[in-house]
This record gives sequence, C-alpha cells and structure tokens, in this order.
Amino acid sequence: MRYHYKKLAILSVLVTLVILNTSWNRYGGDDDRNLKVLPKNISSDSLERVMDEFITALNVNCAFCHAPEDPKEPKSLDYASDANPMKDITRTMMRMTNDMNHKYMKSLPNKNAQLVTCNTCHRGNPVPDIK
Ligand code: HEC
Ligand code: HEC
Repeated sequence: MRYHYKKLAILSVLVTLVILNTSWNRYGGDDDRNLKVLPKNISSDSLERVMDEFITALNVNCAFCHAPEDPKEPKSLDYASDANPMKDITRTMMRMTNDMNHKYMKSLPNKNAQLVTCNTCHRGNPVPDIK
C-alpha cells in the first residue's frame, strides 16, 4: 500500500510540472518574442492579460489572429508567426489606441480621465457596430 501512495505522489508532481510547463510555453520564453508594439521584455502574465483583453473586447478566440503551426493541426497555434493578417491589423489598432491615450486623453483637464481601450469601440464585435 505504502508503495502505491509513493507512486501516486510522484505521479501528481509530474502532472503538475507538465501543466506548469504547458501554460508557460503558451506565452513563450522571455527572449525570442516577435513583438513590435508591446515591450520586448513584457512578463508572461502581462502578455496573457493583453491577449485576454483582446478576446473579450472582440469576442473572438486566439485563432482569430494567430495562424496554425500546421494547416492540418488548426488547434496548435504558432503565436510568433505573422501569417494571419489580423495580427498586423491589430498592431495598427494598438498603436492607434496608444496614441489616443497618450496624445489626447492625457491632455484633458481631468487627470483621471478614462483611457480608451479596445472595448471602448469594439464592445464584443470584431468590427464595431456603428448603429
Ligand atoms: C485580436 C488579435 C489577437 C488575439 C485574439 C490574440 N492575439 Fe496574441 N498577439 C496578437 C498580436 C498583434 C501580437 C503581437 C504584439 C506585438 O507585436 O507587440 C500577439 C502576440 C502573442 C504572443 C507572443 C508571441 C511571440 O512573439 O512570442 C503570444 C504568446 C500570444 N499572442 C498568445 C495569444 C493567446 C494565447 C491568445 C488567446 C487567448 C491570443 N494571443 C489572442 C494579437 C492577438
Ligand atoms: C476608436 C475605436 C477603436 C478602438 C479603440 C479599437 N478599434 Fe479595432 N476597429 C475599429 C474599427 C472602426 C474597425 C473596422 C475597420 C474596417 O472597417 O476595416 C476595427 C477593426 C479591427 C479589427 C479587424 C476586424 C476584422 O474582422 O476586419 C481588429 C482585429 C481590431 N479592430 C482589433 C482591435 C484591438 C485589439 C483594439 C485594442 C488594442 C482595437 N481594435 C481598438 C475601431 C477601434
């Protein structure tokens, strides 16, 4: 019996390590990222928060912007690839949003003015609803 408990304990440690490793991999290591707007040294946690903001504001999943590693495996995404044109459109949107905040919102007399986010316009739509 004791032997079995030991085996179970080792197994659960291994499973935890695999899970940690997978979630770390999803947001990449710190050095080899293909980032043109976000800071190169952004932490994995902050990167995850930005991506979560995108999927919520546009009501899409990761594959809306990220191309698959292999067309036969549409579920495993190559996050560093720029093959999906939505990624560059998004970079333009990120620069536009940054400019709106830094050039205009921050010059308002109200020093606590709300900042513009993706959701200010998108409200759960990939293309904002203008009605
Ligand atoms: C609306 C488009 C969009 C969506 C949706 C999106 N991303 Fe991204 N993602 C980007 C863009 C654009 C970049 C590059 C940003 C830059 O150049 O600074 C990026 C970069 C990344 C990177 C860094 C890749 C590298 O170069 O190493 C990871 C990891 C990533 N996204 C994961 C995700 C995950 C996971 C999801 C789903 C939860 C997701 N993204 C959803 C647009 C998107
Ligand atoms: C000031 C309003 C505004 C803000 C802020 C904004 N967008 Fe957009 N976005 C638009 C409009 C308008 C379009 C439609 C452009 C067109 O007609 O092609 C659009 C289009 C897009 C598209 C292309 C969708 C498609 O299906 O063609 C993506 C992706 C996108 N935005 C992502 C973002 C992200 C991510 C952010 C936050 C960093 C953001 N946008 C912030 C107004 C905005």
